[in-house]
Order: sequence, then structure tokens, then C-alpha cells
Amino acid sequence: MRILVLGAGGQLGGLLARRCGELNIPCVALSRAELDITDGRKLAGWIDDACPDVLVNAAAYTDVEAAEDCEAEAARINAEALRTIGTLCRDKAVPVIHISTDFVYDGKKMDEYLETDEAVPLNAYGRSKLAGDRLLSERADRYIILRLSWLFARGGRNFVAAVLGRMMRGMSLSVVDDQVGGPTYAGDASSCILEICRRICADGGFSSWGVYHYAGKPDVSRYEFAEFIAEAALKAGIVSARPAIAPVSSSGFPSKVVRPRNSRLNVDKIRRVFGIGPSDWKGEILRHIGDYAMR
Ligand SMILES: NC(=O)c1ccc[n+]([C@@H]2O[C@H](COP(=O)([O-])OP(=O)(O)OC[C@H]3O[C@@H](n4cnc5c(N)ncnc54)[C@H](OP(=O)(O)O)[C@@H]3O)[C@@H](O)[C@H]2O)c1
Repeated sequence: MRILVLGAGGQLGGLLARRCGELNIPCVALSRAELDITDGRKLAGWIDDACPDVLVNAAAYTDVEAAEDCEAEAARINAEALRTIGTLCRDKAVPVIHISTDFVYDGKKMDEYLETDEAVPLNAYGRSKLAGDRLLSERADRYIILRLSWLFARGGRNFVAAVLGRMMRGMSLSVVDDQVGGPTYAGDASSCILEICRRICADGGFSSWGVYHYAGKPDVSRYEFAEFIAEAALKAGIVSARPAIAPVSSSGFPSKVVRPRNSRLNVDKIRRVFGIGPSDWKGEILRHIGDYAMR
């Protein structure tokens, strides 16, 4: 099995490439400097050179705030590039795993989101990602769209690192308690992607293409997530006193981005089809909280 990873300079793409190295899985991993995914001609060349059994696209415009002012640029990377990736992969007979997001949903559902629920994004980033999902599904014939939520990894810029950083500097914290979702450790997401790759390659008749959710359980509010990080930091001796965290509502947090209140993803389908269980986000934080301290 040979994998081509796009976006290898990011949290998920970087971890996936490292995991391939650890497991001796042949992998060509390209950062933005090596391949801009909007460059179709260069991408075609890389696919020809790498001869992958599966292409994984973890590259994306992920700055949710900036996307509000730069929607055209977000769309160029998150949507238009997927038209090219889908067409090239179909023509070159390469299956694609494309990473998407809970932000395609409006968060107004009272229950967990199913893959069959209508996607109605609330913001520019979500619109660009949903457009990419649609363009890929129109062009590619063998594709998996993997929608993740609240991704974090050691050494990355993410909620865990940001909260821990403030606690370590003795700063007070206010965290929204009306946005709920499943934190997802990028290492678990990498294992999930590799298991899907393995199944695609091992099963010549694989036909379960389409959209899947993958996320951590249990679901929590952002406030509960921060409380858990604080508890873990205290237990690990990273902070000496329990930091005060104030629960606040989203309306008290001025932002140009409207975020979904409910990001809870139902993950039954991925367990049923691939036997993959949810990310153990609590275990990752308890075991490795020290590695999230910003250097
Ligand atoms: N982070 C989350 O909470 C979250 C939640 C749900 C889903 N997701 C999805 O998960 C995937 C991975 O996210 P992540 O957290 O790993 O993001 P990340 O750390 O921001 O990584 C994205 C990578 O894509 C690269 N990139 C941007 N534009 C590119 C282009 N035109 N060509 C090639 N590479 C380009 C970025 O490079 P530069 O840094 O140089 O721009 C960066 O290295 C994305 O599809 C994202 O939408 C993320």
C-alpha cells in the first residue's frame, strides 16, 4: 500500500505522514511548499511519480476567522482544488480520502448529525468546505469524505494548546458553554485514515464509498473541554493551582464568524463499515498534556 498525502505541513497531514514512517508504510508526503494543491499540472505530475494506491487530501484553508474576509481564496483552496483532485484521481484510477469538517452543518439539530443530514454551513469556511465535498463527489468515482470535528495534535495550534498556554501564564479564562462537539485527536484520526486505506487496498471489491463522520466521544461543551484540560494539567503538575474558568455564551464573545452550536457527529456508520471506534480524546490529554505546552 502506497499513500500520497497532501497538506503534510499541517496538524493532521504531518501526523499521518509520521505514522506512515513509524509503520513502514510507503508514503509520499507533500507540504504546501512542495505542492500547492491549486496547481493541477504539478499535482498530476506528483500522482504520476508517486503512483499511489490512495491519495489523502489533508490540505485546506483552515483559518475560520480570515475566511470571512477572504472567501474567494478559501474557495480556491477548499473547493476549486477539489474539482481538479477529483478529476485527476478519476482519470488516473486513484481512490481519494478527503478531509472535511463539522462546520458544513448549521448546528441547529437537537441530536447528533448523521451523514445523510442536510449540510447548511453558517460561515465562509463551512461554505468553502461543503463546496469542496460536492465538487469532489461530482468528479471522483471512488472517494471517502471524512468529516472531523474539533481536531487537535501535539505541537499544533489548537484549542488544547491555547487553553493550556493561558493557564500556564496564570491568565483567566472565559470559555463558551453553548457550543458542543466531539474533540478529536489527530493521531486517532490518522489511524482511522490508515485503516480506511488498508481496507480499500485489501478489498478489491470495496464499494462503500461516500461520506463518513469521525470524532471523539464523549461530546462536551467547549467549557467542559477546558475544564478537563485544567484538571489534567493540575494532575500532571503543569499548573500548581486550579485555574478559574468562566462559562460564557457565544453571544458574549464578539466574532465575525457564526459557529455551529451543535457539532456532535454520529459515528455509527464508520464503526459499522470499518470497525473504527471514536477518538479517545480524554486518554490522549491525560497521557500527553505536557506535550501541548507551547514551546
Ligand atoms: N482544525 C480543526 O479543528 C478541524 C476540525 C474539523 C475538520 N478539520 C479539517 O481537517 C483537515 C486538516 O486540518 P488541520 O487542523 O490539520 O489544518 P492545518 O494544521 O491548518 O493544516 C492544513 C495544511 O494545509 C496547507 N495548505 C493550505 N493551503 C494549501 C494549498 N493551496 N496547497 C497545499 N497545502 C495547503 C497549510 O499550509 P500553510 O499553513 O502553509 O497555509 C497547512 O499545512 C482540514 O481539511 C480541515 O478542514 C479541521
